[in-house]
Amino acid sequence: MPQPARGDGPGILKARQERVCYECHPDAEADFSKSRTHQPVLSGNCTACHRAHGGKEAKLLSKSGAALCSECHGEMMKEQPGATGHAPFSGGDCQTCHDPHASDADGMLTAKEQQLCLECHSDVADVIKAGKSVHKPAVDGECSKCHSPHQTKLNRLLLAPSPDLCLACHTQMKEPLATLQVHAPAARDCQRCHAPHAAAQAALLAQPQQTLCAECHDYQAASFKDAHIGIEAAAMSCQSCHNPHFSNDPKLFQKEVHAPFASRSCEECHTLAQKK
Ligand code: HEC
Ligand code: HEC
Ligand code: HEC
Ligand code: HEC
Ligand code: HEC
Ligand code: HEC
Ligand code: HEC
Ligand code: HEC
Ligand code: HEC
Ligand code: HEC
Ligand code: HEC
Repeated sequence: MPQPARGDGPGILKARQERVCYECHPDAEADFSKSRTHQPVLSGNCTACHRAHGGKEAKLLSKSGAALCSECHGEMMKEQPGATGHAPFSGGDCQTCHDPHASDADGMLTAKEQQLCLECHSDVADVIKAGKSVHKPAVDGECSKCHSPHQTKLNRLLLAPSPDLCLACHTQMKEPLATLQVHAPAARDCQRCHAPHAAAQAALLAQPQQTLCAECHDYQAASFKDAHIGIEAAAMSCQSCHNPHFSNDPKLFQKEVHAPFASRSCEECHTLAQKK
């Protein structure tokens, strides 16, 4: 990244530039020693952004707004072809989210993400607050693990499409998805069944389980009724027998199955009178 030359010009300073500044701005020195300090501040390059004598801009800045940042971050600020920008990023409001000098939040943010992002996205905050089940990374404010704060080519500023997005953290599901019998929708799109932030159902399910499964499976079909010996779907908890993601069994049975059930010997225990 290009770095403007240090200093305003040929002036000979009494001491290292930042020492000269901190002489009269001791509060600034204290404010800038945080866990994340901007590199030009660390290296004492105050005049990368400030004019020592004066100028047109407030706070003695050499440029205003995003133009100040583009000197060094021009490459990442360029609009990527085909990408959608996050409104405050495209609008050049870098300082809404970043402190120009230093911060104790990762990424030199003005506040931690759960505060920063949810201040503008209060609808997401409401969903999380009302959720019966909540997604840990959303509650913990790890928004930028899934969303780019700046720009991406995907809808909703997502960093990757599901399932890849999800499997980046749910790594233990990768191998069974690659090697076992996989439920068709789980191979394609986790969001078909799960909400990303929070949900009114357990396990982030977007709908009650029976309604969810019924979107694609016809409970009235003869084969469905036969398979379930005529017992009403409403009386069943699907996942007590089926794994919604993957299985060793073509009918997606859970890993541990009782031998007579696995061998489909229903009549060993049930009277099949209800069966048509
Ligand atoms: C001799 C003392 C002195 C030195 C040295 C000094 N400043 Fe200042 N600075 C001041 C005073 C006085 C003000 C105005 C009072 C205030 O706003 O705090 C000021 C204000 C500022 C402001 C705020 C301007 C505004 O409009 O609010 C900035 C930015 C600033 N100085 C940067 C620097 C930088 C960068 C350096 C080092 C290159 C530096 N100062 C060195 C005394 C000094
Ligand atoms: C990357 C650009 C950048 C660098 C480098 C930088 N500043 Fe600043 N500084 C800013 C911006 C932008 C503001 C205005 C912040 C605002 O308006 O809230 C500012 C504001 C200030 C102020 C006024 C604070 C206030 O609250 O009004 C002081 C003092 C200051 N800087 C000192 C320094 C000193 C000393 C250094 C070097 C150690 C330095 N800055 C390096 C961008 C920078
Ligand atoms: C003089 C050059 C320069 C200017 C001007 C500049 N930066 Fe930087 N910035 C850097 C360098 C160098 C790094 C460290 C590069 C890296 O780690 O990739 C950096 C890193 C950052 C980081 C990452 C910090 C972290 O801890 O992860 C942020 C955020 C950032 N800059 C924001 C800004 C913003 C906002 C502006 C405008 C107000 C700005 N920068 C202006 C040089 C600059
Ligand atoms: C909506 C808030 C937001 C806005 C607006 C924003 N950023 Fe960021 N930025 C972030 C977050 C969040 C990160 C990632 C922090 C982390 O790594 O934990 C980040 C990371 C960065 C980084 C370091 C990593 C990287 O992607 O290179 C730089 C540099 C940066 N931003 C510069 C800018 C500049 C320049 C602007 C203005 C054009 C800007 N940002 C606008 C939130 C924002
Ligand atoms: C200053 C206000 C502001 C902040 C802070 C902010 N956003 Fe945004 N964000 C917006 C606006 C405005 C839009 C575009 C309008 C909309 O779709 O809501 C937007 C859009 C989005 C979208 C796309 C929404 C869609 O429907 O396509 C996502 C995702 C998003 N922001 C995530 C974040 C994350 C993550 C953070 C924190 C790193 C953040 N925002 C911080 C104002 C903000
Ligand atoms: C586990 C990944 C993940 C995390 C963490 C996450 N999101 Fe999202 N977010 C998504 C996905 C996926 C969508 C798209 C939902 C859709 O298409 O219906 C989304 C959608 C959004 C939208 C668009 C409006 C909406 O509600 O659908 C906003 C705004 C948003 N997220 C903000 C945030 C904020 C703010 C955070 C942090 C508090 C956050 N997200 C954390 C994955 C995530
Ligand atoms: C940044 C890491 C991360 C990403 C990305 C991520 N998750 Fe998670 N997810 C977690 C963590 C951490 C938990 C909590 C695990 C625990 O408590 O054992 C969790 C829990 C869950 C749960 C169980 C919730 C409950 O209440 O039982 C579901 C369902 C889930 N994630 C689905 C998804 C889906 C779908 C995606 C992609 C849209 C996704 N996750 C992306 C980290 C992540
Ligand atoms: C067909 C709907 C469906 C799809 C698609 C789906 N899930 Fe699930 N998922 C469920 C159901 C139902 C549960 C609840 C299981 C339970 O309560 O035992 C669940 C539970 C989970 C859990 C909680 C822990 C566990 O295993 O019980 C995680 C994590 C999870 N899903 C992640 C994912 C990921 C990642 C994807 C995409 C690869 C995905 N799901 C796709 C329906 C689905
Ligand atoms: C988005 C549509 C969709 C949803 C929602 C869905 N499934 Fe499926 N399911 C499929 C498809 C497609 C197949 C593969 C059918 C085939 O190969 O004939 C399948 C296959 C199955 C199978 C294996 C049976 C067979 O004949 O191959 C079972 C068991 C199953 N699903 C149970 C469930 C359960 C339980 C739920 C709710 C947690 C659910 N499904 C939700 C689309 C869906
Ligand atoms: C008590 C265990 C059990 C429960 C609970 C259960 N199933 Fe099944 N399911 C089975 C058995 C056994 C089969 C038939 C397997 C075979 O024929 O090899 C089956 C077959 C299926 C099939 C394939 C049907 C066909 O037409 O071939 C689907 C789809 C299915 N189940 C979905 C569901 C859904 C959705 C639920 C919840 C509403 C559910 N199951 C609840 C045991 C169960
Ligand atoms: C080892 C004995 C046994 C075998 C074999 C068996 N079941 Fe069951 N089944 C039960 C018991 C016990 C219940 C619980 C009855 C109750 O709670 O009222 C049950 C309940 C059910 C239910 C109601 C939904 C639920 O999960 O509570 C369905 C559907 C069902 N069985 C289907 C089957 C099918 C289909 C087979 C053959 C593939 C089968 N069962 C084999 C003992 C058995």
